[in-house]
Amino acid sequence: MARFCITGGKRLCGQTQAGAAKNAALPILAACMLATQPVRVRLPDLSDVRNMLKILRLLGCGVSVQGDWADIDAQSACCWRMPADLSGKMRSSIFMLGPILARFGKAEFTYPGGCEIGLRPIDLHLSGLRALGVTVRETGGRILCAGSLHGARVHLDYPSVGATENLLMAAVLAQGETVIDNAAMEPEIEDLAAFLQMLGAKIQGAGTARVTIQGVETLGGGSYEPMPDRIVAGTLLAAAAITGGDVLVRDARAQDMAAVLSKFEQMGCTVEIGQGVRLIAPRRLQAFRTLDTRPYPGFPTDMQAQLLTLACVAEGAGAVTENVFENRFGYTAELSGMGADIQIHGRTAFVRGVAHLTGARVYARDLRAGAALTLAGLCARGETIVEGVSFIDRGYAALETTLAALGACIRRETD
Ligand code: EPZ
Repeated sequence: MARFCITGGKRLCGQTQAGAAKNAALPILAACMLATQPVRVRLPDLSDVRNMLKILRLLGCGVSVQGDWADIDAQSACCWRMPADLSGKMRSSIFMLGPILARFGKAEFTYPGGCEIGLRPIDLHLSGLRALGVTVRETGGRILCAGSLHGARVHLDYPSVGATENLLMAAVLAQGETVIDNAAMEPEIEDLAAFLQMLGAKIQGAGTARVTIQGVETLGGGSYEPMPDRIVAGTLLAAAAITGGDVLVRDARAQDMAAVLSKFEQMGCTVEIGQGVRLIAPRRLQAFRTLDTRPYPGFPTDMQAQLLTLACVAEGAGAVTENVFENRFGYTAELSGMGADIQIHGRTAFVRGVAHLTGARVYARDLRAGAALTLAGLCARGETIVEGVSFIDRGYAALETTLAALGACIRRETD
């Protein structure tokens, strides 16, 4: 087990980078299954990415990694059965469903596990694939899919990111035209579409609520660098905000982060947009009145915990409503243990800012909650121990190194 040991009170100042986006890299790696030529992808050094590379190897792909670039050759892929231990453990394995079906015409999976933040069903993925001609059988916890994919008009009851990505990857080799209505509009969808277009796919409207795909016979190969991680960038700017600091994230794309940057400004931060995004924090943050998580371009649920943590030490009171996942306030009990004043009523957390938090031993149980508890430790009086760093490593590459380089007093301890 690993933990962060943090001594709070240091202002974070300087320049840093967010790196390639986890939530773009993972579906892009899955889409490599569709390529008939070798593909080179720049990747963040994250445990979720390493697990996805493991899945590609298990399915028979050639995978070699040099530095932060991976070379993937899917021509040797031969397996359409997803290993039960991996698909159960790693949710993003569900992204393999569309590409495997497009490649082999059949797929066998285990239901990906729910997690700390919710049940995470895949009904929208499966109903969309059925519309594309896939028969879906469930037996003994395994999902058996088969069928030759044909174009269809699919309306998503909810703009699910994963379902949009799965259907996009299934449709690029389907016979005929597919239209996805009420599609997710996250920037990572546009990035996946750009990667597929590089391979030769015909896609219009990615990043809008209506995506149209003309199926093609085959896709080629190429080299691709995913977009920068807007959630890691937002988290690093939040670290500057909560410590009264001044940080420039050089590769942050402001156009992907409008809702988050607006909240920082509502809290009294100065946000400068140029080569990247710079945040200059006020001496004391002002509370935002409300924060509601929504599908893009609304406020991202993956930044909810980080902004709620800022609210804990802001002047005034605010309400945070989590509309995307049904159980994403679990970490607030840990913040209360540090002296935060938080009342949960259903999907809304009412936060009243306090003068300071006090260091404590806290437990991360999901990726973004772990990042938020780390932010709390950066501003708390005394020492904070954040247990469960393996969750944080899923989405942040050596977060402690990045923060220490900006002036934080933080180190990793392992048993
Ligand atoms: C992606 O998850 C991200 N993960 C999540 O980031 C992110 O929080 C989420 O999108 C929302 O932006 C990756 O991209 C790897 P959804 P995904 O399908 O695709 C419900 C992180 O911290 N739903 O848009 O699973 C679902 O239960 C992670 O990096 C169904 O009901 O999200 C949830 O309430 C956490 N049926 C809502 O939709 C379905 O078939 C949003 O889920 C699918 C989803």
